[in-house]
Amino acid sequence: MPYNVALIVGSLRKDSFNRKIANNFITVAPASLKCQIVEISDLSFFNQDIEATPPQPWVEFRNKIKASDAVVFFTPEYNRSVPGVLKNAIDVGSRPYGQNTFDGKPAAVISGSMGAIGGFGANHHLRQSLAYLHMPTMGQPEAYLGTLQNSFNEAGELNPKTKELLTNFANAFAAWVEKWAKR
Ligand code: FNR
Repeated sequence: MPYNVALIVGSLRKDSFNRKIANNFITVAPASLKCQIVEISDLSFFNQDIEATPPQPWVEFRNKIKASDAVVFFTPEYNRSVPGVLKNAIDVGSRPYGQNTFDGKPAAVISGSMGAIGGFGANHHLRQSLAYLHMPTMGQPEAYLGTLQNSFNEAGELNPKTKELLTNFANAFAAWVEKWAKR
């Protein structure tokens, strides 16, 4: 049985490069990973005051993460860190206290930006949260995808070099999931 892998994209915009990378990840991932994007655009800001009757999108998001064996984060870099929408999704998924839905699930981070350093700052800020959430996060290979605006041709296809990087990353992650997934 393949592992269920939740893909979380930290950009809400329609033409997001990170979403395109996530879609390419789905196509290159080996058959042992069943990948699906879990949407975060409906999640209202986390507010502990409404935890007693949580909004339906929070409940659905938490259930989808609970049902996943592993998680891959695709993050843009905003001001050298993680976009607020992605941090909010992590906060929602981590609560209520003692019911962290991410707990123990193997993870990987792919950062992508228009800048030259490929979202290094966001990638590593995100890893700080994942360590606290107790997610074994793949260290190698790393994926810092820079100048993403130049990585797709007019037909919207990813350039072969980045596609190869993504394929190697997905294969390494499949081995990582095999090692750490708790099902
Ligand atoms: C950016 N961008 C950006 N790029 C980068 O390399 N380092 C950074 O710190 C920032 N900071 C930043 C802040 C804000 C508020 C925005 C809106 C943008 C540019 C960013 O890489 C670019 O918008 C990407 O296209 C975002 O990813 P998506 O939406 O294409 O997935």
